[in-house]
Amino acid sequence: MTGAPSPIAPPMAMLAELTHRCPLSCPYCSNPLELTKRDAELSTEEWCDIFRQAGALGVLHVHLSGGEPASRRDLETLVTAARDAGLYTNLITSGIGLTAARLKKLADRGLDHVQLSIQGTEQESADRFGGYKGGHTRKLEVAQWVAELGLPLTINAVMHRQNIDRLEHTIDTAVALGARRLEVATVQFQGWAAKNRTALLPTRAQVEAATRTVEAARERLAGTLVIDYVPADYYARFPKPCMGGWGKVGLVVTPSGEVKPCHAADIIKTLDFQSVRDAALADIWRESPAFNAFRGIDWMQEPCRTCDRRELDFGGCRCQAMAIAGDAAATDPACEKSPLHARLQDLTQIAEDAPTDFVYRTLNG
Ligand code: SF4
Ligand code: FES
Repeated sequence: MTGAPSPIAPPMAMLAELTHRCPLSCPYCSNPLELTKRDAELSTEEWCDIFRQAGALGVLHVHLSGGEPASRRDLETLVTAARDAGLYTNLITSGIGLTAARLKKLADRGLDHVQLSIQGTEQESADRFGGYKGGHTRKLEVAQWVAELGLPLTINAVMHRQNIDRLEHTIDTAVALGARRLEVATVQFQGWAAKNRTALLPTRAQVEAATRTVEAARERLAGTLVIDYVPADYYARFPKPCMGGWGKVGLVVTPSGEVKPCHAADIIKTLDFQSVRDAALADIWRESPAFNAFRGIDWMQEPCRTCDRRELDFGGCRCQAMAIAGDAAATDPACEKSPLHARLQDLTQIAEDAPTDFVYRTLNG
């Protein structure tokens, strides 16, 4: 035995943030505080080349995301290029910017799947959460078009203090829209969302009720709707394995071409994220110091280093460790073994009558 390091497996999925431009202004947006402007975005040719590189590297899925990917006029060309590279293509969209004709063109180019976000189940509140008047009605139309084209549909619903009590209705809405999958994602305080923590953080009682609702619906709707549930880690005993482990199964390419292990990694200022404009995607994935910084378990400190869960959750989320502990290599404070767990719990002490106004995120470009 030589003791040579095991080879790095290719990423399964790539999140392609085609643009930060978006007609919506969701207060829980996970895009960074500093958004990429249109003139700094990668060109059509650059994205097509990245998709070719991703296919050659072994990536299986590409999630075409943003911002709102339909804000890119070349979206049809990009779908064609991704398909030609052998990638399964998922469009993550708010639906705004799509028409029935455009969606048909995307389907004709080989789009495999649509993931449509909804902000709520009633027009008035949903439009307020998304910061876009008329948005909810348009989303219902888009879901109808997706069904007519026979494309598989996932509904994504971010839940927070102001809409989580409507979860049951959200589940019914997903079924009515013909979705095969529903992502119930309790708000995560990354990027822009951190500005709105006070207005968005659900209470413990709300989170516990939501968990019961999901469990009952999973049983009731088995065979009809798959429900993926991201619970609120502020109330958890252990963290989630964020991104399935740093540099393990996925990568993110930003609108300007930086390659990162997760969408929120900008918060870790000690890391330098290389761009596809300067290096090959495969080299960044395998060799860049940023990807190798928290790969595997050798970087871990106590209590993770000797914990029997270390290869289950990989110490949780590096970005949350950075945000709360000020150290990206610390145990995620969502873990009850973290010495800073109490600090996270303190953040949940939000008064019943706390303001519900939002700081909206904007880059409509
Ligand atoms: Fe996970 Fe680290 Fe907590 Fe163990 S100590 S459960 S590895 S975060
Ligand atoms: Fe960056 Fe969790 S969001 S590692």
